[in-house]
Amino acid sequence: MRLFTITLCLLLANVTTNPVDTNASPETVQLYNTLLSYTQKSNKTLFGHHDATLFGAGGGRSPYILGEPHNGFRGWLFSVQQAQNENPDELCDIKDVTGEYPAVIGFDLGGNVDDADERLRNAWLIKKAADRKLIITLSWHQNNPISGGRPWIDQDHTGVNITHPIRRILPNGDYNHLYRQRLDSIADWMKQLRDSSGHLVPAIFRPYHEMTGGWFWWGTNQKTDNTPDDFKELYQYTVRYLRDTKGVHNLLYAYSPDKVKSASDFLQFYPGDEYVDLMGLDFYYIAAFNPSVQTFQQMVQILTDTAHAHGKIAAITEVGIFNNGLDTHHNFWNDHVLDALKSGQGTTRLAYVLGWGNICLHKCEIWVPYKGHPAESAFLVFFNDAMTVFEKSLASSVAQIVVG
Ligand SMILES: *[C@@H]1O[C@H](CO)[C@@H](O)[C@H](O)[C@H]1NC(C)=O
Ligand SMILES: *[C@@H]1O[C@H](CO)[C@@H](O)[C@H](O)[C@H]1NC(C)=O
Repeated sequence: MRLFTITLCLLLANVTTNPVDTNASPETVQLYNTLLSYTQKSNKTLFGHHDATLFGAGGGRSPYILGEPHNGFRGWLFSVQQAQNENPDELCDIKDVTGEYPAVIGFDLGGNVDDADERLRNAWLIKKAADRKLIITLSWHQNNPISGGRPWIDQDHTGVNITHPIRRILPNGDYNHLYRQRLDSIADWMKQLRDSSGHLVPAIFRPYHEMTGGWFWWGTNQKTDNTPDDFKELYQYTVRYLRDTKGVHNLLYAYSPDKVKSASDFLQFYPGDEYVDLMGLDFYYIAAFNPSVQTFQQMVQILTDTAHAHGKIAAITEVGIFNNGLDTHHNFWNDHVLDALKSGQGTTRLAYVLGWGNICLHKCEIWVPYKGHPAESAFLVFFNDAMTVFEKSLASSVAQIVVG
């Protein structure tokens, strides 16, 4: 442990190397060091998948819930009842295809953090993932606290005026009380997150992602009229409330804009080095060559340069191709993601890249291949590349850090 710390200090001569929570639990510090080691010293990048064990496009059966038909396809969903019965989470497209779980697994706190069923199901799936030593990341598609509507403003059909939602949930705002209740719920839930041995499970918390886009109520657009300062205040308030007021000490904090053109774009909403452990970027291709792979490369460069300058962990917190483009562009994970990372400093300076969940509810959105998908064999090339890391090599690298 000591040797490893010294190595990191040499690599990061003039920057801090601790989580922004100085009272972070030992497990959280360990997670931080693991992510930092992949950011700083390796030609390796962890692979992550959102909802990897919650949704599965292939191989499901009862008691998994069967999704709605969509273009002749239906996926599966791990049911609340399965969580209540403590059933195994055996459905995982990445594992079906590669034989391993992803190294990083994403979950979402959901629109309503008070939903007891969601809380229980998430906690159960996280316990299973933590037992496998996977890295947990949590996004938050929070319903609009003002209107109660969906997080996407174009799907908020409540008709409620949502001007300045951020100001209204901050202290002195008329919805601050409600927002604090939501953070209280998250805090209570986080403090109870345990693996099977009873250890507190650390997670990367990634609230208010893609704020540079106009689609969420916390983003900037004409309906909400939020400002960068509003956003920074909200982010800082959220960290301080969870960490200092509620004493949650098993979180690392991630800041992850959507597409940006420059470092100053990237930092426009940045709440500051004291509030962020991980700098991320969400990047979606609309179609196979739109935007170009070069555009992705440039943004990866902006991200890794900025994270490096601030001494932060770097990651591609979401990447994929829209409209089930993987169905036709089978080599996507090699020629649109991995090649782009290799050509710059991506694989040396990114801790992980994460694909979105194969979610089949009202429609099926596929981001990674499932067993039987035409992109399966191309994905095995990605999996077998020396630079990608899945469950098993993550476990052995973490073991080395502890021994070292
Ligand atoms: C990473 O890869 C580059 C290019 O192949 C090589 O020059 C460098 O030595 C490698 N670094 C490590 C730590 O393996
Ligand atoms: C919403 O409320 C704001 C602030 O009170 C006001 O300026 C704006 O005109 C309202 N918008 C609509 C569409 O009513």
